[in-house]
Amino acid sequence: MQYNFQVYSTIVLLFSIQCNAADDNNIINRVTDAGILEDATLDTFSLIRKYGYPCEIHRVYTEDKYILEMHRVPNGRDNVTHGPRPVVFLQHGLLSSSAEWVLMLPGKGFAYILAEAGYDVWMGNARGNTYSRHHVSLKPTSKSFWQFSWHEIGYYDLPAMIDYIIKETGVPKIHYIGFSQGTTAFWVMTSMRPEYNDKILAMQALAPVAYVGNVRSPLIKAMAPFINSLERLLKIFGTNEFLPNGKVNELAGQTYCVEEAITQVICTNLLFLLCGFNTEQLNSTMLPVVLGHTPAGASTRQIIHFGQMYNSKKFVQFDHGWFRNKRIYGTHKPPAYNLSAITTPIFLHYADNDWLSTPSDVDQLLNKINTIVGKYRVQLSKFNHLDFVFAIDAKELIYNRLLNIMAQFNYN
Ligand SMILES: *[C@@H]1O[C@H](CO)[C@@H](O)[C@H](O)[C@H]1NC(C)=O
Ligand SMILES: *[C@@H]1O[C@H](CO)[C@@H](O)[C@H](O)[C@H]1NC(C)=O
Ligand SMILES: *[C@@H]1O[C@H](CO)[C@@H](O)[C@H](O)[C@H]1NC(C)=O
Repeated sequence: MQYNFQVYSTIVLLFSIQCNAADDNNIINRVTDAGILEDATLDTFSLIRKYGYPCEIHRVYTEDKYILEMHRVPNGRDNVTHGPRPVVFLQHGLLSSSAEWVLMLPGKGFAYILAEAGYDVWMGNARGNTYSRHHVSLKPTSKSFWQFSWHEIGYYDLPAMIDYIIKETGVPKIHYIGFSQGTTAFWVMTSMRPEYNDKILAMQALAPVAYVGNVRSPLIKAMAPFINSLERLLKIFGTNEFLPNGKVNELAGQTYCVEEAITQVICTNLLFLLCGFNTEQLNSTMLPVVLGHTPAGASTRQIIHFGQMYNSKKFVQFDHGWFRNKRIYGTHKPPAYNLSAITTPIFLHYADNDWLSTPSDVDQLLNKINTIVGKYRVQLSKFNHLDFVFAIDAKELIYNRLLNIMAQFNYN
C-alpha cells in the first residue's frame, strides 16, 4: 500500500510537468469531424477498408501456441500492379498495434505510403495486444498467458510471422521496419536465432531501443528504484497485463491533470506517459484516433524488462532473480544478447528529443552491431519518440529516406 502510494505520486508528479507544457500549445480542438471519431473505434482492418485500400487478415500460430493476427495491405489504392511486389513487414512499438501504421490516414500513415510505393505491406501484432489475445489453451484472464516479455515477442512471434509471410508470398527475403520495441524484438530474434538474419533484405530501425540507460521517460524512471524488488512491482502493476484501463485513470486523474478534459486524457494515456508528448508534430484533430487505439495492451514483464535494463545499463535477458536465473540460464545473472551475431544490413533512424531512444543509447548500439550501414538523425530538434509514427511531417522527415534506402535492396 505504501509503495503503491510512492510510485503513484512519483508518476503523477513527473508527468504533470508534461501536462503543463502541453497547456501552452493549442491542443484543444473540440470541433472534431464525425468521420475522425469513427476512426477511433474502427479496428485496423475496417479502418484500412474505409479508406479504400485492400486489406487481409492472417492468423499465425507461434511455436508456444499464441495466435497472432496480422494485417496485410497487398497493394495501393490507385496502383494495382500485379506481379511480384517487394514485401515489407512492419512491427509496432510497446502498448501499440498494427493500427499505429494507418491511424494517420492515406498520404500520412506509413503503411499506405509503402503500399502506394509498390510494396506488399504486412503488419504484425505482438502477443497480448488488442489483436493477439488468443492462445491455443491459455486465456488472457489467466496469469500464465502473460508470462512473457518482448524477449518472447522476438524469439517466437517475429519468426512465426516472418516464416508465414515468406511462405505466403513466395519471396526469399523481406524488408523489416520496426518502431521502438519493434526494433528491440528484432535484436532478440537476430541474435538468438541468427538463421533469421538471412530472411531479411534490410532492417530499418525507427527509434531503435536496446540500451536504455539514458531514457528520459518518467514512467521508467519512476519505476526504476523498485525494479529490483520484482515481487513488489508485480503486486503494484499487476502480474498479468500492464495497468489495464481503470488503474491509470485512478492514479493519474488526481490533482494534476484535471484542467482540460483533453490534457487529462493525454496524461492518463500510458503511451504518452512512457514517451512524452509534443504538440508541434501531432495533429490535434487526430488525437482522438490515437487515443482510441492506444494503449493496446502489454504484459507487466515487458515494462519491467525495460526497467531492469535501465538500472543495469545492459542489453540482457529478463532477470528472474539469482536463484531462478541459475535454473533458467545456468548463470546467476541474465545473459547478454549477442549483438555481434546480427548480420542483416541495419539502418538506424533516431531523434534528439526522443525520451526512449536517446542519442547516447543509440551510439552504444552502433558500437555493438557490426552491420549497421547507416545512422540518420531526424532534422528537427523537437522530434520525439511517437513522432516516428504520428508526426505531421513524418513522410518528408523520415519515410521518403526509408523508401530510397529500401529501393536499393529490391530485386529488379
Ligand atoms: C505504381 O507502382 C509502381 C511500382 O510497383 C511504381 O513504379 C509506379 O510509379 C506506381 N504508379 C503510380 C501512379 O503511383
Ligand atoms: C490534421 O488532420 C485533419 C484530419 O485528417 C486534416 O484535415 C488536416 O489537414 C491535418 N492537419 C495537418 C497540419 O496535417
Ligand atoms: C556471438 O556471436 C558471434 C558471431 O556469431 C560469435 O563468434 C561469438 O562467439 C558469440 N559470442 C558469444 C558470447 O556467444
